[in-house]
Amino acid sequence: MSTIQDIKARLDIVEVVESYGVKLQPSGRNFKALCPFHSEKTPSFYVFPEGQNWHCFGACGTGGDAFSFVMKREGLTFSEVLPLLARRAGVTLVTREKDTAQEKELARLRAANEAAALLYHHFLLRSPEGAAARAYLEKRCLNPQTVADFQLGYSPSGKEVFLEPLRSQDYETPTLLAAGLVVEREGGLYPRFRGRIMFPIRDSRGQIAGFGARVLDDSLPKYLNSPQTPIFDKSGLLYGLHRARETVRQRKEVVIVEGYMDVLAAHQAGETNVVASMGTALSEKQLKLLKGLTNRLVLALDADAAGEEATWRGVVAAEQAMERKVVPQVNWRGWVRYQETTDAEIRVMTLPSGQDPDDVLKDGSSTWSRLVTEAQPVIEHLFLRTTSQEDLTQPQGKSEAAKRLLPYVAAIIDPVQRAHYLQKLARLVQVDTETLKRMMAAAGRKTRAEKGEAPLPSPKETLEEYCLNLLLRYPQLRGVRQHLSPEHFEASENRELFIAWSQGEQALTDSGDASLQEHRERLLSIDIPPLEEKVLPRALKDCVERLEERRLKRRKEWERLRLSEEVDPAGKDFPFAALLDGSLEGMDDKFRPGGELQRQGIDINTQLRDIYKGRQKKKG
Ligand code: UTP
Ligand code: MN
Repeated sequence: MSTIQDIKARLDIVEVVESYGVKLQPSGRNFKALCPFHSEKTPSFYVFPEGQNWHCFGACGTGGDAFSFVMKREGLTFSEVLPLLARRAGVTLVTREKDTAQEKELARLRAANEAAALLYHHFLLRSPEGAAARAYLEKRCLNPQTVADFQLGYSPSGKEVFLEPLRSQDYETPTLLAAGLVVEREGGLYPRFRGRIMFPIRDSRGQIAGFGARVLDDSLPKYLNSPQTPIFDKSGLLYGLHRARETVRQRKEVVIVEGYMDVLAAHQAGETNVVASMGTALSEKQLKLLKGLTNRLVLALDADAAGEEATWRGVVAAEQAMERKVVPQVNWRGWVRYQETTDAEIRVMTLPSGQDPDDVLKDGSSTWSRLVTEAQPVIEHLFLRTTSQEDLTQPQGKSEAAKRLLPYVAAIIDPVQRAHYLQKLARLVQVDTETLKRMMAAAGRKTRAEKGEAPLPSPKETLEEYCLNLLLRYPQLRGVRQHLSPEHFEASENRELFIAWSQGEQALTDSGDASLQEHRERLLSIDIPPLEEKVLPRALKDCVERLEERRLKRRKEWERLRLSEEVDPAGKDFPFAALLDGSLEGMDDKFRPGGELQRQGIDINTQLRDIYKGRQKKKG
């Protein structure tokens, strides 16, 4: 998800619209109101929570998403609305030009941490005080090679032994403070870490970010970590990734454990595709780090964490974070079809009760390898867990099981798989699938409204994205742009990019702000198999046709909805009198037979028929 999509996912269109004083009244699954953009007596402004979009059937005749609503309402451009909605959604925007001053500051913080890592490593290997730490690591079965590979260290208990060498390298107090290496207390300056085993934490490129620090005994807190700094964001790092990258790529699989010690044990045993989430529920940011490397993830969660709902929410969000892709399939006629597939395959490995990966790996890696191979798909794992925890012979247990499992079943993207697990659940709790589907829909609406949860990306965007992707990737398509218009892009970020693209290559790279550029880069990073020159125009044409079809279908759907409401005898504005006395005089044009609404309906049907006909011809 790009930042813009993230913002949209965290906002609810209903709330956004209401916050502008629009009084929405429920209308079936949707809402309607008097259009805020033109004056009218009967509501023709609709909000569709499911699609997270809005449309005005009246004088405006347009619609869009939360962005376009605010743009229109406030008379602002896309870039002006971006920070407003970002703040509202609690999303931090990326900045465009890498501010060089800021870059320098980051480099300074890294250098300070790097210097500290060297010092700590030195204290572990050489200082007399480090003897206890050396003994501890030996007791934990870590060999000198592992200690060196991960540059483990020891933070001395004294103050000056640590500060002196850093000062002599010109690291001033403000830098040391900002780097999270020292703390200020009662006017004095103290090293943050003292008497602990130090684990330097690096980003995926191997640049230092911060430290984890363990006590040598059972005292608490067991670990201290660097504070949040401009270079250290624990939820955006995976411990060991810079050393695991290559193997992850080769084995096409990554194993995610929780602890520093587990990573060390694994790498020492030759299992070098292991990284640690560092004790927190997996975050989307962490998963994104793996995106280019592999889509096969195995989670080694300890029994406690596996029981926590928070962990699973993380996993489901994670699954969404790993891109879905649109796979074009070219058949023998050169016809291109698009299919969506989920990219992530997340499995869960069950550890023997009471054991850490660290314990399992001590006996060599054969048990470990077996456990990794036996890892179960997340959903299977959840079914097993629920079955073992709930008494499914009791009504209470059944209802609990359904409530717990449904959200996960609902989150499955692949329709065939989703149907499979829905049936499985139906059998388990002995309720028909229709009832479960209704529960699912209701629960879906609830979670969407709840803040902080990653809703499912809507499939409609993928077609738009694919189309844009073609345009961005293949400059030769500029000549054959078909009848593509901004209106074909329902997502504001895509529409903006398309507009910029229409203005030429330069406009595309210059204009817009960082988030839009980021969205563009994300689109370009989506893996689409290269298309041959000669199928390109056809691929685009097909895409445009589908977008057009979608646009028309959507309109038709809306018109139908609108018509059915207007003709609803309960509708107060319907001119019964005119009908009864047979005169159509004074009747609003739109209600007349053959009037605006009906005309639009016919018009759309004709256009849709043309599309179908064209397709038939091509196939025949
Ligand atoms: P564990 O308690 O499983 O730690 O916490 P561990 O790495 O296996 O250490 P040993 O085997 O007890 O020596 C898992 C991870 O959670 C984070 C650390 O990243 C740790 O590796 N954690 C744990 C903290 O950040 N702070 C804590 O106080 C505890
Ligand atoms: Mn452990």
